[in-house]
Amino acid sequence: MKNLKKILNNKSKSEYVHEMFDKLAVDYDLMNNIISFGRHKFVKKQVIKNVPLRDGMNILDVCTGTGDIPLFIAKKFGNSVKITGVDFSEKMLEIARKRNDRYNKTEFINADALNLPFEDNYFDAVFISFGLRNLADLRKGILELQRVTKKGGYVVNLDMGKPKGILGYIFRLYFFGLVPLLGKLFHGSAEPYSYLPESCESFPDQEELVRIFHELGFDEVKNYNFAFGALAQQIARV
Ligand SMILES: C[S@@+](CC[C@H](N)C(=O)[O-])C[C@H]1O[C@@H](n2cnc3c(N)ncnc32)[C@H](O)[C@@H]1O
Repeated sequence: MKNLKKILNNKSKSEYVHEMFDKLAVDYDLMNNIISFGRHKFVKKQVIKNVPLRDGMNILDVCTGTGDIPLFIAKKFGNSVKITGVDFSEKMLEIARKRNDRYNKTEFINADALNLPFEDNYFDAVFISFGLRNLADLRKGILELQRVTKKGGYVVNLDMGKPKGILGYIFRLYFFGLVPLLGKLFHGSAEPYSYLPESCESFPDQEELVRIFHELGFDEVKNYNFAFGALAQQIARV
């Protein structure tokens, strides 16, 4: 097992992540389908269903990547909600814009999740999916999501979780052993898929994330596990 410091190879986390997703962009959707056996789409749709979204809402998706979350929200609500996707990888955004071009109330902006270009209390719901783990500063990232969310609104996180017991053991074998191999086979490089499990090692599990959301001043925090806790969603009320 490599460790994250070795993988970053003297680059800052933000620089490394930015370069990695620029290079990965064209294969990102295919690789997600392969490593999750197509399940990530089902989970993202369920994550959206779990949030009480309504027509007329102003919604943000931070670290939007190729724009799955905006796409699945727009498929459900059409142009009756306004959706903004933010990412710092222009290559990922190019794909997100193409995939969402049918929805004229969805727009994509190139910006840093740690310094969002929006005023305070601006959005009804703010999503981040497989993004928090990639930020250089987790708490700063969450506070920035909180800042742009209206009082009573929702911050919604989806990321890898940590399953327990024998399932946790099997999952780690798959995650650390097979996933980098699949990266090598289908993307031509194991590197991003060695970064993926390593970035999870230093990332808090779902129970700890719930505690951090409370510590940062959120009122109600709910956790939903998927795939026996290999994936987890938190919905935190501002
Ligand atoms: C694993 S992808 C997740 C994409 C998408 N949300 C999904 O669920 O498939 C992480 C994304 O976060 C973006 N990202 C990472 N750090 C960022 C930051 N500080 N500011 C903006 N985007 C960032 C990357 O460019 C990448 O597109």
